[in-house]
Amino acid sequence: MAVQRFPTLEHLIAGAADAIAVMIHEAIAARGTVHIALAGGTTPTPIYHRLAMMALPWDRVELWFGDERNVPPDHPMSNYLMMRTALLDVMGEARVHRIQGETDAVAAATAYERELVGALGTPPRLDLVLLGLGTDGHTASLFPNTPALDETERWVVANPTATGEPRITLTPKTICAARHVRFLVVGATKASVLAEVLEGARDTNRLPSQLIASAETDVGWFVDDPAAAQLRSTP
Ligand code: 6PG
Repeated sequence: MAVQRFPTLEHLIAGAADAIAVMIHEAIAARGTVHIALAGGTTPTPIYHRLAMMALPWDRVELWFGDERNVPPDHPMSNYLMMRTALLDVMGEARVHRIQGETDAVAAATAYERELVGALGTPPRLDLVLLGLGTDGHTASLFPNTPALDETERWVVANPTATGEPRITLTPKTICAARHVRFLVVGATKASVLAEVLEGARDTNRLPSQLIASAETDVGWFVDDPAAAQLRSTP
């Protein structure tokens, strides 16, 4: 698994945006469109802002979501709202596949799964899935010791957070079917969990991010120096 390390957050934002732009061009050259699942959380926002300022063929870009909270699209916690705000300049051009967080979480997951399979077939092979890493080892809305970690049939499910709040999330199977996966991890608060996920013993119930590995998928990590501080082997 490739770890790309950047000295500062600013370097990571620039480097990640450039790398994502290359993947966008490559997918469009090969297949005419590019399907990207966006990460929520705070880390990717400046990267989305930077991408929005780049001259990319946005009319060939299909934007999906890795997960969503069970809230309406104008709610401050909505990943859709965050993405919309960050990518506002290109929103009219890109095709956006929103998770309907305002409806029942199980129904929203079923509808999103139908949309994903309708667009991409089975398995739904996204070109790029962007992910964050929580300090508890979660990614997307795959939280420690939750049912979605053992899901082997479904592509999108409703899954609870540690406090029981329902979320809608791509399953590990969907993420592992993507062509490329990139984790975005910044800051000292992520240092110990990043080292555990990448270099610790395998314990996927406690560290769900360890589930995101597959021989067919190119999984990489964009990390800044503070987040990488506890890694034993770094590039
Ligand atoms: C979300 C997520 C979640 C997030 C991590 C990291 O919607 O919140 O998809 O998995 O990526 O919690 O979040 P930060 O980038 O804010 O640290």
